[in-house]
Amino acid sequence: MTDISQRKADHINLALDAKHQADQSAGFEQIRFIHNALPELCMDDVDSSTLFLNHHCSAPLIIGAMTGGCEHGETINRHLAEAAEHCTIPMAVGSQRAELESGLASKVRKWAPNALLLGNIGATQLQQQGVELAQRAIDSIEANAMVVHLNPLQELVQPNGDRDWRGVLNAIEQCCARVDVPVIVKEVGAGISIATAQRLMDAGVTWIDVAGRGGTNWASIESARINQSREQQIASAFLDWGMPTVELIAGLRAQSGRLGIIASGGVRHGLDIARSVRLGADMTAMAQPFLQPALESSEAVIEKITIFSEQLRWAMFLTGSKNLEQLQSAPLLNA
Ligand SMILES: Cc1cc2nc3c(=O)[nH]c(=O)nc-3n(C[C@H](O)[C@H](O)[C@H](O)COP(=O)(O)O)c2cc1C
Repeated sequence: MTDISQRKADHINLALDAKHQADQSAGFEQIRFIHNALPELCMDDVDSSTLFLNHHCSAPLIIGAMTGGCEHGETINRHLAEAAEHCTIPMAVGSQRAELESGLASKVRKWAPNALLLGNIGATQLQQQGVELAQRAIDSIEANAMVVHLNPLQELVQPNGDRDWRGVLNAIEQCCARVDVPVIVKEVGAGISIATAQRLMDAGVTWIDVAGRGGTNWASIESARINQSREQQIASAFLDWGMPTVELIAGLRAQSGRLGIIASGGVRHGLDIARSVRLGADMTAMAQPFLQPALESSEAVIEKITIFSEQLRWAMFLTGSKNLEQLQSAPLLNA
C-alpha cells in the first residue's frame, strides 16, 4: 500500500469513530422553527426539490466529498454514486489526486451516468500543478463543477502536510477563469469566514461550501495518526479550532445575496437541512453520515438519503412550507 492509500484507509477507519466528531456543536440546535399546528397542506404536495447548477435535485442535499484511492475506496464510491443516481441528488467525489497520479481511470461517471458530479482537488495541489490538474480532474469524471478544498489546519497536523500556502488564492483565480465548469471552494471542517469568502468572491468564486466546525474533526483524526508526542502536543491546542457552521451560513448570506452557499460541517439530519435552508443556504452537504452505509451497499445509502429527505419534508410540513422558497421565510423562535 502506498503512503497516500494507507492515509486514506486510516481516514476512513478514524472518521467512522464518533470520538473524532467535534465536541463543540455546529449550532443547529439553537435554530428552532415556530411550530405551525395548522399547516393547511397535504403532505403529498410538500416539494423539497431544487435546481442546483441548472440541474434538478430531489432535495437540497449533496453527498459530501469523501476520498477514494484506497482499499475500500472503490466500493464506497460505487455505492455513493449509484445512490446519487437513484435519488437524483449530487455527489461530490473525494480528492482525485491519488487517482490522477496513478493514472487509473475513474469509474464514478459510469456508475452515475446522469448524476450531477462534483470533482475535487486540494488547493495546494492546484497551486503546485496549476489549472491543467483541475481540467484533468474534471475530464476524468465529466464533472459538472469543480471543488477546490482548503485545509490548512489538516495539512499542519498531517506529517509531511503542505505548509507553503503562498499563491493559493491566485491559483484559484486562474482556475475560475480557465476551466469550463463552475468552481466551488470548500473547507473540511474549520469553516470559511466572511472575510475569506469575500477574497474568494473577488477571485471569481461563485459557490462556497462553508464546511464549518461541528462535524468531522480533521485535527483530531490527523492527530490520532501521528506518533510523535511533540507534534501531538502542538496539535492538541487546536482540536476545537474553527468556526461553527450555523454562524457561517447566516453571516455569508447577510454578506451576499448572490453567492451560492452550501452548508456543511455537522449537518446530521433532514431537520438540519431545513434549518440551513432557512438561514440562507442553497444546498447542504453531508459526508460522515454516509460513510458507514457506503461501506455496506447502495441500498443502505439510498435508505439514509430517503430518511434525510423525509425529515426535511416533515420540517417543511410542520412549518406550513409547501416548497423550499416558503421554508426560507418560515418563522423562527427568538428570531
Ligand atoms: C472519510 C472522509 C474523507 C474525506 N475526504 C475528503 C476529500 O478528499 N476532499 C474534501 O474536500 N473533503 C474530504 N472530506 C471532508 C468532507 O467533505 C467534509 O467537508 C467534512 O467531513 C465535514 O462534513 P461532515 O461533518 O458532514 O463529515 C472527507 C470526510 C470524510 C469523513
